[in-house]
Order: sequence, then C-alpha cells, then structure tokens
Amino acid sequence: MNTPARIPPGIYNAIDYERLAAQHLPADRLAYIAGGCGWDQTVAANRAAFGQWAVLPRLLRDVRAGHTRRALNGQDLPHPFFLAPVAHQRLAHPDAELATARAAEATATCLVASTLSSAPLEAIAQAAGSAPRWFQLYLQPERAHTLDLLARAQAAGYTAIVLTLDASIQLASRSALAAGFALPPECTAGNLAAYAPSAPAPLAEGDSRIFQGAMRHAPIWDDLHWLLPATRLPVWVKGVLHPDDARALQAAGVAGLIVSNHGGRSLDGAPAALRQLPAVRAAVGADCPLLLDGGIRSGQDAFKALALGADAVLVGRLQMYALAAAGALGVAHMLTLLIEELQACMAQAGCASPADITPEALLPSCPTD
Ligand code: FNR
Repeated sequence: MNTPARIPPGIYNAIDYERLAAQHLPADRLAYIAGGCGWDQTVAANRAAFGQWAVLPRLLRDVRAGHTRRALNGQDLPHPFFLAPVAHQRLAHPDAELATARAAEATATCLVASTLSSAPLEAIAQAAGSAPRWFQLYLQPERAHTLDLLARAQAAGYTAIVLTLDASIQLASRSALAAGFALPPECTAGNLAAYAPSAPAPLAEGDSRIFQGAMRHAPIWDDLHWLLPATRLPVWVKGVLHPDDARALQAAGVAGLIVSNHGGRSLDGAPAALRQLPAVRAAVGADCPLLLDGGIRSGQDAFKALALGADAVLVGRLQMYALAAAGALGVAHMLTLLIEELQACMAQAGCASPADITPEALLPSCPTD
C-alpha cells in the first residue's frame, strides 16, 4: 500500500478520494469497504437519494458573518461533520484509527470510535488529543464486558456512547465475497482482546441459524432499559429508520438518534437514510438531536441532510478512502474539503449559519437538473 505524506495530486473535491482509493487498496479490501450487503441496493439508494433534491440559489443575502458552528447537547461543534464509526481501519492503513484520530484533532472533528477498531480505544483517545470523541458500542454477549467497555470509554475521555442497534446480523456483500475478501489476521478487534466470551450453547435440532443462532444475543428493549442507567454518559442510538422506533427511543430517554442504515451494510433493500430523515424528524420534533449518515460524499450532500432535518452528518467510507490514499493527512484534507464545499453551498443558497438551512432551500430534482 502506497501512503504518501503529502496531499495526493488531482484531489479537488472530497469525493475524489473515492476514485483514488482504488489505486491504494487491494481489490478485495476495496470491495469489502465499498460494498454493503446482498446486492448493494441500499448502498445505491443512499447515494441516489441525494440526487432527488436540487439546491435553490438565493441572491443579495449578506453571508459575510457566515459560519458552520452548531451546538449539540451542550457540545459546541465548529462544523456539522462527524467521523462515523468504521471498524477495522487497519484494512486501509497501518496507522489505522490513530491516523484518523490525528486528522480529527487537526480539523476539530468529533470522531466516533468503533467497538471493532483495530487500535484499542485508549490509544485512539490519546491520538485524538483535543478532538471531541464518542465511543460506538456493540453490546457484548456478557453484560460485564459491556460495563467494562463503558468504564474504559469514560476513563479515556469519550463523552458520549453511540449504541448501534441495526447490525446484529449482517449478510456479506456479494461483491466482497466475489473478490475473495476475508479479514486479515492483523485486523483483530483491539478492544475486545481481554474478553473471552463463554462458548455459545450448540443449536438444538430444528433451531434456526438466524433466530436462535445469530440473533441469540441481539439487543432487545430490556437491554436498552438496562444500559441507559448503567453509564453516566449520554447514549445515542444509531440505526434508526422507522418514525415509531424514533419516538419510542426518545421516550426511553436516549440523548439523540442517528438516522442510518449502516451504509447499506445491514438490510439490503432498506430505504435510503436521507429518504427517512423527514419522517423521523417529524416524529421526534424540532428539538431532538438528530444525525444522519449514509451516502455523504460532498458538502452539498451535508447541506441537503441539514435542510431535511439533520443537525449534523457522519462520514463513513470517505474516511477509509482518504486514509488509504494519504493517511492522517488525507483524512484531514478530505474533511477540510467537505467543510469548504458546505460553506460554498451555504453561501450560494444564502444561508449564513446551519440554522438558516431549512427545507425551503431545496426543490425536488427533475431529470434535466
Ligand atoms: C461501517 N459502519 C459501522 N457502524 C458502526 O456503528 N460500527 C462499526 O463498527 C461500523 N463499521 C463499518 C465498517 C465499514 C468498512 C463501513 C463502510 C461502515 C457504518 C458506518 O458507521 C456508517 O453508518 C456508514 O458507513 C455511513 O455510510 P457511508 O458514509 O459509508 O456512505
């Protein structure tokens, strides 16, 4: 893997890192990262949803005091981009999450470290320095291990927990399977090394590999009610698409919601995250903190998500592509491009702050746009 310590030539927009990654990643790894699950229908839907909207320019508005600042649950963010939790970053670069964390600090971006990170969460926290950081939690089969992860995250300075609920079962992407992808031995989950779960009881005759097998430890409402008082940190839930789930989670006392379909990696055929965003926003009201991910490749995509009800967006695959192409520098550069692209879109649309970005800034697209 070639990882130059300079910004690669030919990168004009954040999305250019997608193209460049193909030159830096072996085909099987690229297929694993780029793919979703099944036939990648939801991966395609996530992207297509942004094309359904056009941004309407406005004239003569004074944006000279313009900014992208935003407060979220008392946390001041200089811009509305997060680094989404992405597992196994050693697939993209030997420095893995440590490089991503350095980029987070350089750009004051909140990073969400995955339970399945290559580097331990403590090392990521150290590399992140002053960057705000949240910890993404997969509930562990044994509650003692979950409690230990929560305590470690709090001790390492993570300020929120992101509980991912949509990935208890993930079918492989056909493109990754066809490319022969298998997780290499250097991509172990550094956080979980200390936890040896007891061997699962064998399935009984007639048991389903799915219901009684893969879903045996899948979180249910009881687990959420157990988790919320088990940590002093605010708990967000990631993977929300149904307005009724959003309402119920809000009533249960979560700190905020992430509208997401796991980048199309959980249920192939699930709707685009952006498509569900207005219904989820309507369900939870104007004040519920709401993030969105899935298909963000430009500042203009972020603008559309903000217009349709998101407070901020998370960037998944783009961080892996930039990491593969140019390490920490690449991720920092990609984020800088996203921020500038958002600012340019805001300026053209006459929006001087994220609060000015409303649904009226968008029009349904038509094929000739
Ligand atoms: C992910 N995602 C993810 N989500 C999560 O909650 N925990 C995780 O460990 C991972 N791991 C992971 C690995 C890889 C390779 C990818 C591509 C994605 C999902 C991620 O947080 C986010 O929801 C999507 O990536 C958003 O879509 P885009 O930005 O990739 O289109």
